[in-house]
Amino acid sequence: MLKANDPCWCGSGRKFKRCHRDSAERLRPGHVSPMRTVPAHIPRPDYAETGEPVRRSEPRVKSAEVIERMRRACRAAADVLEVGAAAVAPGVTTDEIDAVVHQAYIDRGGYPSTLNYRGYPKSLCTSVNEVICHGIPDDRPLRDGDIVNLDVTIYLDGVHGDTNATYLVGRVDDASRRLVEVTRECLERGIAAVGPGRAFSDIGRAIETHATAHGYQVVRAFVGHGIGEQFHTDLQIPHYYEPRLTTVMEPGMVFTIEPMISMGTGLHRIWDDDWTAVTADGSRTAQFEHTVLVTDDGVEVLTLAGGR
Ligand code: MF3
Ligand code: CO
Ligand code: CO
Repeated sequence: MLKANDPCWCGSGRKFKRCHRDSAERLRPGHVSPMRTVPAHIPRPDYAETGEPVRRSEPRVKSAEVIERMRRACRAAADVLEVGAAAVAPGVTTDEIDAVVHQAYIDRGGYPSTLNYRGYPKSLCTSVNEVICHGIPDDRPLRDGDIVNLDVTIYLDGVHGDTNATYLVGRVDDASRRLVEVTRECLERGIAAVGPGRAFSDIGRAIETHATAHGYQVVRAFVGHGIGEQFHTDLQIPHYYEPRLTTVMEPGMVFTIEPMISMGTGLHRIWDDDWTAVTADGSRTAQFEHTVLVTDDGVEVLTLAGGR
């Protein structure tokens, strides 16, 4: 990881401690527009009005019928993410991306799962530069050289599909490009560790091994999760090696893998908005996420775009 006296990743030639670590370059909260509305004909999750999800028991191993609905929801989530990605450009605000993505869910008959989830005010998360996750779309225009993660979750046919990716805005420095590439590989390695009979700890071990080999840190505070009729179930999937996690994967289980990888520290702070998670030292982070199904002989990635 970057130390205080190392040259800053941004190529300024300044020491990290005099540059992004403590500088005015740090991202700041912007203005958040009013909550967008969803047409009455779109079915919504239980928390849409109250903001509080009702905990229900939900089998970890899904029925064939639920799996079929999850395939559709997850494909739709991937399609919506592609719509958001096409809107990423210097000068575009993250709130403008929220507006485009919000409409894309509705066009597919879906509800934006994040909207009013525990009070979250927007239809996706937009996490820029040192924001690890849960960044709230606001009036800040994306700048040439930023990296931005779009995290899209749709509620469709009574189930959730969850996926995210990190995008380059204009011309991005080499160190940040490498971070984004290695983080994508971390997700791929995590997926390759999925299969019936394997321990959940194999996933985090594969991810952490790859991240640390490149001098990066895994963010430990946020984990992958079981998903289905509920956005987040009790099943947790750390992206680091946790030897005490002896739970074994079974065919029919559906969960997310969503590693957050930092160039510097893996420790985080939360902004006063109670959502935005940033690295404690201001270093950049990237993230990629898929929703996956354990099959009889391996894994099926559900959040692949279907082009519709
Ligand atoms: N989509 C995120 C995840 O991968 C969760 C966002 S919850 C929100 O789990 F409330 F912050 F939107
Ligand atoms: Co998720
Ligand atoms: Co997500």
